[in-house]
This record gives sequence, structure tokens and C-alpha cells, in this order.
Amino acid sequence: MSAAPLPNDSTVAVIGAGAMGSGIAQIAAVAGHPVKLVDARDGAAVSAIEGIRTQLNKLADKGKLSPDAAQAAAARLSVASSVSDLADAALVVEAIVEDLAAKQALFVSLEGVVGSDAILATNTSSISITAIGAVLKRPERLAGLHFFNPAPLMPLVEIVSGIGTDVSVADTLFATANAWGKTPVHARSTPGFIVNRVARPYYAEVLRLLQEGAADVATIDAVMREAGGFKMGPFELMDMIGHDVNFAVTRSVWNAFFNDKRFTPSLIQQELLEGGFLGRKSGRGFYDYREGAVKLSAATEAPRTLPSTITLHGKTEIATALAERLSNAATPFTSNASASDERLATVGDAVVFVTDGRSATQRAAESGIANTVLIDLALDYSSATRIAISCAKQCSASTLNDAIALLQAAGLQVSLFKDIPGLAVMRTVTMLANEAADAVNQGVCSAADVDAAMRLGVNYPRGPLAWAEQIGVHTVRDVLRNLGISTGEDRYRISPLIQQACYAGGSLHE
Ligand code: NAI
Repeated sequence: MSAAPLPNDSTVAVIGAGAMGSGIAQIAAVAGHPVKLVDARDGAAVSAIEGIRTQLNKLADKGKLSPDAAQAAAARLSVASSVSDLADAALVVEAIVEDLAAKQALFVSLEGVVGSDAILATNTSSISITAIGAVLKRPERLAGLHFFNPAPLMPLVEIVSGIGTDVSVADTLFATANAWGKTPVHARSTPGFIVNRVARPYYAEVLRLLQEGAADVATIDAVMREAGGFKMGPFELMDMIGHDVNFAVTRSVWNAFFNDKRFTPSLIQQELLEGGFLGRKSGRGFYDYREGAVKLSAATEAPRTLPSTITLHGKTEIATALAERLSNAATPFTSNASASDERLATVGDAVVFVTDGRSATQRAAESGIANTVLIDLALDYSSATRIAISCAKQCSASTLNDAIALLQAAGLQVSLFKDIPGLAVMRTVTMLANEAADAVNQGVCSAADVDAAMRLGVNYPRGPLAWAEQIGVHTVRDVLRNLGISTGEDRYRISPLIQQACYAGGSLHE
């Protein structure tokens, strides 16, 4: 499957000189290609080139590009007044408005201009490559070349093949993106490709938590950052992306999957949109960005008194991390390393478990342990700074105090959630892993590529499949199964890839 990249002296044409087109033109010029930029709007290509030159100078000032290289790249950029000037292009990258008919019309006109070897690529983030190619005489030379915003900074490029795309075209684009310093991944043209599909649960699950009154937005965001290790909490991220854009992507993936419940949009987000609360760009979204607005902060439990008896059970990663954290804080505890049940700790009255997708109340009823407290998943229990917990309705008055005191003694800030199944990080990460597993199972991409795509395209701290393997595929399956039972919803159905891995050694990678 190895192909040569396009020679770096071959001409690259970029059509659409907006945010994405400018970034792509910059990348190609820095890589050595003569770049022709076209835009339907008068003056747009000229001002885009000015903008790119400013960016190149900034890179030179910061020492990220030599002044000579910046100058040479700038000199390779030129404006083409129309598509008819692109006859010498070896590659045309389209980055115009996200509209099927407009893209089809553009590629039909290009077919009559470019040479027979030229590759046609679209930067579309949501339109089917197959549908764009349907009107072409030679759909085999069309593929998706999906950059992420801002293109010069984001390393990921999805190389998307439609039903008619020739393998050699996808491979040449893959090699070319590599030569441009990017990390390409192959994807089949299915709704959302890889990233925009697999990322849906990052928003969807917390929107559900909010709707169910699990906690407020600042608290959920803090837990996702400080326990989950995500760079931005989902609510602040949605505010940054803009609810108009985020909701439109969710709707488009949901519609494209024939209204599969997995992707159902949220009424909460729809209401924000209806109210004009678009996020940062309109001054208000989940948070208020207007001058003088009070900044929301996460709810954190006040310090509690530690009971004298603490026992840690088993040898799990979390038990080991808790033991280390308590030792570092000189807090005495007893270790019951040989314990084979699911308890993580007993402290005073409280019996602490890691969530398995059941509510604490259900688990307490089923186990007969009334004083059940559940804690959430963390990316790394030894370095997390916050953790979410929930407590069974049947528990004694001192149970919650005792569990919170234990976690505080280990140096964690504690956020108390309403007793919803799966808590925040566990519920979100298992659903991300489930979606990633389904994409792999359906032949959209490889397991290694879905992990790379989510780390590099949206900065996740760990690939969802690698994360699932670390949690343990049996645990992931149980959490999803329990979420499905407690909600009665098909959205939590378990990917066949995860089910298979449970019977075959636990690996989700080929
Ligand atoms: P933009 O609105 O910033 O730029 C689009 C440019 O295309 C405008 O300058 C417009 O004048 C020009 N244009 C429109 N129709 C044209 C035509 N028929 N011929 C020539 N020029 C035309 O849009 P943006 O954000 O750069 O998006 C472009 C494409 O990239 C879309 O397909 C979008 O879905 C996709 N994309 C956008 C990302 C983003 O975060 N903005 C990320 C990844 C993909």
C-alpha cells in the first residue's frame, strides 16, 4: 500500500480561500509546491495570501521556520482568477462552502480543465465523497482530504475514500499528507468519517447528565478535565466550537445514520440555539462570557473528618494508586490485597466501589450493601486532582462523610453527583470506545487509526480503544450493558467488536 507522494514541485490548487483553504495553501507552499488559490468572492484570494504571508512571517519570527523558507513559501503562492487557470494542477483541494450541489458543480467544471493524472480532493467535513463523485466522469480520482482547524497546527488529516475512489489515489494523498508533515489516517466515506462520528458521545453523554440533573456544567467540565484528563471540558468546548456548528454536525450524523438513537441531538442544545446562546461568539452559551459576568466554578465538597478505620481492597490500578496517595499523605490504612470481591475501600461506614454503570442505589439494593459509594473513572488515578462520586439512597448518614474524607485524604477534590448510572468519565469514555469499536467493526478505519485520529484530531488524552483496553473490555461491556438496562435505551447497545474481545483475550487491536 505504499505510494509516492506528489513531487513537491508539482502545482497544488486550492479552491476556497477561507479559514481552511488558507491553511491548506500555507501547508502546501511550505512543503515546496507552487500553490494557486481561487475564490469566487472578489479579492478573497488576494487577502488570503496576505494573511498567509503574515502567518509565515510570524513563524519565522518565532524561529519555527527560517526566514528564507518563509520567504520562499510566500513566493510560491499566487492567485488564479478562475478554475480555467488550473490546467497544470497535479492536485486540486476544494475548500468552498459545505454544500453538495456547489461542490459537485465545481468538480464537474474542474474535470474539463485539469490533466488526466490530476487528483481531485475535497476538504468536506460532512458530505459523502461518494455523493460528490456520483456526478463525475471519473469518480475514481476524487477523495476526501479532511484537515482539522487550524490546518497548519492540527496534525491529523483524514484521507476519505468513497465507493468509487481508486486505492492508488487515496494512497498518493496519504503519502503526500505525510510528506507535508501531517499524520494521515485512511477512512471510508461514512457519516462523520472518523473524528466527527466517534466524538459525538463526548458531547451527547454530558448533555444527558445535565438533563438528568447529575451536576452543573462547571462541575462536569472540571471532572472531565481533572479526572478524565481531557484538555477542555465538553461544555466549554461546545461553547468554543459554537452551538450552531456543533448542533448541525450532530444533526447531520444523526440524520445520516437514519436517526440512530446513539446520535440523538439534545433538547438542551437546541434550546441554546433557539435563544441565540451560541457560545463564546455570541457572548453566552453554557457559560456567560460578557464583561463582568460571574465565572461559574465547580462544586467541591468541604473538608470532612476522616474516620479511624481505612482498608483498601485488592490490587487493582486504582487500589494501588490510592494506597500510594494515602502513604504520601502519611494517612494510615490497612491493606487487604488478597480481596477478590469488587470493593475498593471500606472506610468508617462506607463501602467504596468503582462505578460499573449501575446507580449506587441499584447496586446497594442488589448487593445488600446499603452504604455503597461509587467513584468515577480517572485517566490516571495516581495523578488525578478531582473525582466524581455518588452515593446510594439507602446509605447511613455518615457514609458520605467517610467516603469523601478518604478521597480528600488521598489529595483529591471531590464532586458529589446525583446518583445517575455510570457517572461522567466512565459513561463518556465507554461510549467513546463503543463508537470507535463500531467504526472499526464496520470497516471505516483501523483500530490504530481511530486511536490516532482521536488523539491528534481532537486532542483526547488517550485513544478510545487503548483506553477501553486499559479499563478492561469486560468492564466496558458491563458498564454499557448496565447503562442499557437502566435507561432501557438501544443507544447503549454494545459493539460486536467489544463483545468479541471479551471472549478473545481482551484486545481491540488487530
Ligand atoms: P469559509 O466560509 O471560511 O471559506 C469558504 C470560502 O469559499 C469563502 O471564501 C467563499 O467565498 C469561497 N467559496 C464559496 N463557494 C465558492 C465557489 N463555488 N468557488 C470558489 N470559492 C467559493 O469556510 P471554511 O470554514 O474554510 O470551510 C471550507 C470547507 O472546509 C467546508 O467544506 C467545511 O465544511 C470544511 N471544513 C471546515 C472546518 C472548520 O473548522 N471551519 C474543518 C474542516 C473542514
